[in-house]
Amino acid sequence: MKTVIISDINHLNIAADVIQKGGLVAAPTETVYGLCANALNPASVRSIFKAKGRPSDNPLIVHIADQSMLSNLVTSISDEALLLMKTFWPGPLTLIFKASSLVPKEVTAGLDTVAIRLPSHPVMQKLIDLSGVPLAAPSANTSGKPSPTNAQRVIEDLDGKVDVIIDGGSSSVGVESTVLDMTSDVPVILRPGGITYEMLRAVLKTVIIDRAISHTLSADLLPKAPGMKYTHYAPNAEVFIVKGHSEAVMIKISELIKLSKSQGKAVGILATDETSHLFHADLVLSAGPEADLNVIAANLFEKLREFDDAHIDIVYSLAFPKEGIGYAVMNRLEKSASYHIIEV
Ligand code: TXA
Ligand code: MG
Repeated sequence: MKTVIISDINHLNIAADVIQKGGLVAAPTETVYGLCANALNPASVRSIFKAKGRPSDNPLIVHIADQSMLSNLVTSISDEALLLMKTFWPGPLTLIFKASSLVPKEVTAGLDTVAIRLPSHPVMQKLIDLSGVPLAAPSANTSGKPSPTNAQRVIEDLDGKVDVIIDGGSSSVGVESTVLDMTSDVPVILRPGGITYEMLRAVLKTVIIDRAISHTLSADLLPKAPGMKYTHYAPNAEVFIVKGHSEAVMIKISELIKLSKSQGKAVGILATDETSHLFHADLVLSAGPEADLNVIAANLFEKLREFDDAHIDIVYSLAFPKEGIGYAVMNRLEKSASYHIIEV
């Protein structure tokens, strides 16, 4: 298939046309790029799974442009959900509701719930508006790879597999939306993301973090967001996180660089603006200034992909504070490292 790249937002009608005819469009959102199809067309939704190589038991998020699109898709909306929507929509918060019979089982992977999000990115909003239907959209990467935060990375993964890729520049948030289950008594965070625990706590009396997020997965602790159980966000390189007091971490990483070099490996380091000059490896990248977790979140996936561009075999990464959006950053980083954490 020949993929059309659109970079002029005045041409979004071409993309909307593709959606209406059942095709696939990759589009920018404020979190990461999404691979969009008409959520109400089962065949189109199936083609999303095919293009990404995504396991069919992993449900998709349905994107809407206006709250009025919600009522047809869900069976009920609680007062708490209304409050969250009022506070955080449009934005990087996905809410799980009981699904109405209108939602195809291809979207929900057979669950009786559906994930809904109202993104803030103007291009995505306009695409939904022009298409006139809700859009099912996972991140626009090949399954397992770090999510794409710019059009170039989408092209790398999906050129020839989708009808249209819209270039809308870099995503500002950089990690995916927070997935919050509103179907249990107390809202449960199934995936940490752009709307932080602290932000949710400021409006909700209680909110729980799914235990499976903070632990290495085992058979008795399967995550409720099916997508959280797969290998994810992984560059080709093996990733290790080195954690502890900063001086001890520097010494340990320097030792590890030497060891890996002696084994003939190409070594990459993920550091910060303040620390990157301290390391001598094949590729040292900064995720951003130590004190700015928002910048680090925005850069994370792109940096992981840059190690692959340079054919790095092994990456040693600093750990970042698990506060605010840092919680989501560390969740993605730990997954990309398959939970290989070296404590010093
Ligand atoms: O920021 C985002 O959310 C991006 C942009 C494109 O909107 N999308 C995204 O989609 O990250 P995806 O498919 O890569 O991740 C969706 C996550 C998966 O972990 C999936 O298992 C979970 O949401 N999910 C979807 N529907 C669910 C449901 N009904 N119950 C529980 N988890 C669900
Ligand atoms: Mg994804």
